[in-house]
Amino acid sequence: MLPCLNEAKKRTKNKVMVKKYKIDDNFRKLGLGKTYFIKTYGCQMNVHDSENIKAILEEMGFKESSGMENADLILLNTCAIRENAHNKVFGMIGRLKHMKEERPNIITGICGCMAQEEVVVNEILDKYRFLDLVFGTHNIHELPEILNKAIHNDKTEIDVKTIEGDIIEEIPVKRDSKYKAWVNIMYGCDKFCTYCIVPYTRGKQRSRRFGDIIKEVESLKDNGYKEVTLLGQNVNAYGKDLELDYDMSDLLEAVAKTGIERIRFVTSHPWDFTDKMINIIGKYSNIMPYIHLPLQSGSDRILKLMGRRYTKESYLNLFDKIKKTVPNVAITTDIIVGFPGETEEDFKDTLEIVDKCKYDSAFTFIFSPREGTPAAKMKDDISLKVKEDRLHRLNELVNKYAYEANLKYLGKVVPVLLENVSEKNGSMLAGYTDTMKLVNVKAPKEMLGQIVLVKINDVKTWSMDGEIA
Ligand code: SAH
Ligand code: SF4
Ligand code: F3S
Repeated sequence: MLPCLNEAKKRTKNKVMVKKYKIDDNFRKLGLGKTYFIKTYGCQMNVHDSENIKAILEEMGFKESSGMENADLILLNTCAIRENAHNKVFGMIGRLKHMKEERPNIITGICGCMAQEEVVVNEILDKYRFLDLVFGTHNIHELPEILNKAIHNDKTEIDVKTIEGDIIEEIPVKRDSKYKAWVNIMYGCDKFCTYCIVPYTRGKQRSRRFGDIIKEVESLKDNGYKEVTLLGQNVNAYGKDLELDYDMSDLLEAVAKTGIERIRFVTSHPWDFTDKMINIIGKYSNIMPYIHLPLQSGSDRILKLMGRRYTKESYLNLFDKIKKTVPNVAITTDIIVGFPGETEEDFKDTLEIVDKCKYDSAFTFIFSPREGTPAAKMKDDISLKVKEDRLHRLNELVNKYAYEANLKYLGKVVPVLLENVSEKNGSMLAGYTDTMKLVNVKAPKEMLGQIVLVKINDVKTWSMDGEIA
């Protein structure tokens, strides 16, 4: 099955069923004696999907390889959000081709959001037929069958579903961390922001059932996990597709009541952020005072063209309400510059909001046209040079406020979940505050996995240093 963009646009009224994952016993020995390597691109959604893929492969007998060079099965879990994500993947596919020439018996494949794109699959069929398998975001649970076919086939096995299927519960998971876990609360997105490919690659919004989510969080807590991140493309819309009487604030409250130590959620679309939700976040101490609230643009004209359905004013109102209700909250954002037709005035509106909100940090991007989205057809006459200049100016401002936000931590004592050995210095541990600030701490390895109080001695733009208080 090949993906189809026109079909992917459609939103069906089909009832979403909840089914249970099951592996056919015939596939359990397929990977015995072989190793796998997965390279993951893109957002947390993909990171978590890779955790599921790893566990499925291990059920089939595969073992994780330490590197790509000696793996028998190599999968690229891809991201389609911007052109540079695409280019990175195609660069890697080129590398895989060389590996396949040197070691013809390896199995290579791609999955994830790029696999859902018609243009990508056509390009693969045209130029990269050495790949053994391509599967999409909607059929990860069918990986054992797909892999079985790919192994016994000479041609590229392409198995991509355009229309989302059901919600599959109990897919096994091999989590990257012993302390922090991703928990899907919804799949897909129905917002159709005009620049964005996600509603096409991830399908319609489907919320997981309340009970299944709570059960997963409780089991994580029982297994010693300290932190859960509730995942979705716009988590605030959780439950809207279910016609039941609960929403994101009810879910947050129920997750808080499980008593797990830390809860956060990504991503929040400003549109569905209710007062009830803000109050719940303020009320429970185990809901982390950290909110990612994508702005995208500060210009009402551009926001309208983007289909974001809020204005500069309503965004600022929401921002202020959150700041007032949630003590010490850290707010981060996403911003796109160079959207088609963005004038210097529009861009200055964005800078003005950044000046007002003084974000703790921000991810900033140059608009990248995605084939099939409405914005890709809009007239775009701003030169790359101007776009790069705007990105640079924006980043200077963002960095300034990120540093200022960190400066407020100097000398303070804050809770940090120590999660790994510091990348810069092997004698330090690294972790995050409940506001998602990266802290390097002088502490023994035995403290990994604990939430400890740390005194901050030094701050930089993107990290801080501290010692156990
Ligand atoms: N669901 C999230 C966004 C996921 S994509 C939300 O609505 O907030 C992450 C970020 O990538 C977006 O917030 C946006 O800033 C950026 N992005 C998405 N499509 C893009 C495009 N075509 N060009 C540049 N940036 C884009
Ligand atoms: Fe993309 Fe908008 Fe959906 Fe976010 S809310 S995933 S930006 S369409
Ligand atoms: Fe990329 Fe797909 Fe996530 S396009 S950002 S991996 S949902």
